[in-house]
Amino acid sequence: MCGIIGYTGDDGSTLDVLLTGLQGLEYRGYDSAGVALADGSLAVHKREGEVAALEEALPSGSVDGAAGLGHTRWSTHGPPSDANAHPHTDEDDQVAVVHNGIIENYQALRDDLAARGHSFESDTDTEVVPHLIEEALEDGADRETAFREAVARLEGSYAVAAVFQGSETVYAARHESPLVLGVGDDGHYLASDVPAFIEYTDRVIYLDDGEFATIAPGGVTVTDETGTVVETSVQTISWDPEDAAKSGYDHYMKKEIHEQPRAIRQCLRGRVDELEGHIALEEVAALEPEGTVQFVACGTSYHAARYGARLLRQRGVQTQSFLASEYTADAVPVSDETLVVGVTQSGETADTMRALREANGAGATTLALTNTVGSSAARECDHVCYIRAGPEIGVAATKTFASQQVALALVAGALTGDASPAFLKALRELPDQVQTILDSSRAREIADAYVDADAYFFIGRGDAAPVALEGALKMKEITYKHAEGFAAGELKHGPLALVSGETPVFAILTEGSKLEKTLGNVKEVEAREAPVVAVTDAPEKVGRYADHVLEVPSSHPQLTPVLANVQLQLVSYWVANRLGRSIDKPRNLAKSVTVE
Ligand code: F6R
Repeated sequence: MCGIIGYTGDDGSTLDVLLTGLQGLEYRGYDSAGVALADGSLAVHKREGEVAALEEALPSGSVDGAAGLGHTRWSTHGPPSDANAHPHTDEDDQVAVVHNGIIENYQALRDDLAARGHSFESDTDTEVVPHLIEEALEDGADRETAFREAVARLEGSYAVAAVFQGSETVYAARHESPLVLGVGDDGHYLASDVPAFIEYTDRVIYLDDGEFATIAPGGVTVTDETGTVVETSVQTISWDPEDAAKSGYDHYMKKEIHEQPRAIRQCLRGRVDELEGHIALEEVAALEPEGTVQFVACGTSYHAARYGARLLRQRGVQTQSFLASEYTADAVPVSDETLVVGVTQSGETADTMRALREANGAGATTLALTNTVGSSAARECDHVCYIRAGPEIGVAATKTFASQQVALALVAGALTGDASPAFLKALRELPDQVQTILDSSRAREIADAYVDADAYFFIGRGDAAPVALEGALKMKEITYKHAEGFAAGELKHGPLALVSGETPVFAILTEGSKLEKTLGNVKEVEAREAPVVAVTDAPEKVGRYADHVLEVPSSHPQLTPVLANVQLQLVSYWVANRLGRSIDKPRNLAKSVTVE
């Protein structure tokens, strides 16, 4: 879990490119950062903390280089520290290496190297790589061969890149960690993700597992493990740099919450034919699931998966939803009739990828539902359906959750042919209805009233139950306060013991989500003096049972949970804002979790 950037070019701006790239990648990890600049010499600067701390620490008049690497880290081996920050070098500072992933056999490699006299400065798995390269160079290999030989020794996952003293070429390789090349006019780039270099070029080449790349001033070359040149296609990315910046909002999260009308519109574009009365989702047209549909996902995406599984179940399909990290714990039975849907914003989450790979290996058909074109999930699954939310920089998933819900509603309708005119109309109305909530929400007042609460509880039934879980996850990750979500009926089976006058309960009371029954649970918490906030499309029915109402427009009962979630996102945002939290980069979390 880290972000890497590499650059070679002839315009003398290597350091600027690397620092800009690192800022664009900080969502991938931000506990330390570093750069290596290669020219006649090799200069490495690295620092614990965010990229800004590295910038401050750079010696004035730092030497620029013709080629360079940058890295922003999220710790896996060894705590955040200057020494553990990347890039790592060999003993003679001939080569600097950055890496994203986990080298599973690093301890054995390190013991071997130590036995041959190498000494190490960090606790990281990565540091073995420059030492392996050093040995290969000493044995007479040229730079590229030395890099390849070192990579061949690695087991685990990696996107790894190296620069050498006295060279303008950057060498890179990928296995189960993302790596994309950028083809520019004055220089060439490599990075974990496109926002790192979108300011400079929109022409990209996605590397596949097992591929190597060299980027040199003269061009970009991709080869396979044997060194044979691989034909690649250059794709043009449609995001502009503005898309990846804050556009005047205080936080990316707030911007992304406000982008939801556009994100949903993009997700629906060309996919709903109201005149013909059907959903046109080419991506799943070839799928006719005869057996069970299994969903695998993590975190917020898992909540979306549970919502999607319900919509399919209500259309007569047998479904199961699994936390991806649990799916592989015992072999879940699949057959060649099983469809396994991986719901993953990044398309890189290691737990989800492992589950999808196992399902594929066992003969299931796989479908990736992802936001990220060219991601591992998109490339490895048999089918892919993009949610089209655009880049999401805030660590807390917001617009991508809404787009996942909408994409899953489309998948449910398309796979079963069961999409009523009322459902199609409600889908089309969603973007404007989200906009109405954004324009009129009273979430900020609620946040002000309950910012000092001991804990927050979220309850909902039926299609609203996954949204209750999501409301609580959002609250805890950005406010650092205790929050729990429950299927409303479960409250009385234990959690009710925690409810008091200091614990507001957010109850999703929407038509179609067993509103009357959930009202029974509301009365249970009121009897314990808990303040109740009703999120509802039926204020006339529920208003008198609640201390506050957050209203959502009426919609199709299966889609109202998409709207209710927007109110809950806003409450969490404003509580975190009042508490002065690091909203876009909550402590201990990272955007893309590429370790199991
Ligand atoms: C929470 C959040 C995480 C992710 C989870 C899966 O706001 O963003 O819970 O949903 O790490 O990530 P993806 O969807 O990229 O597989």
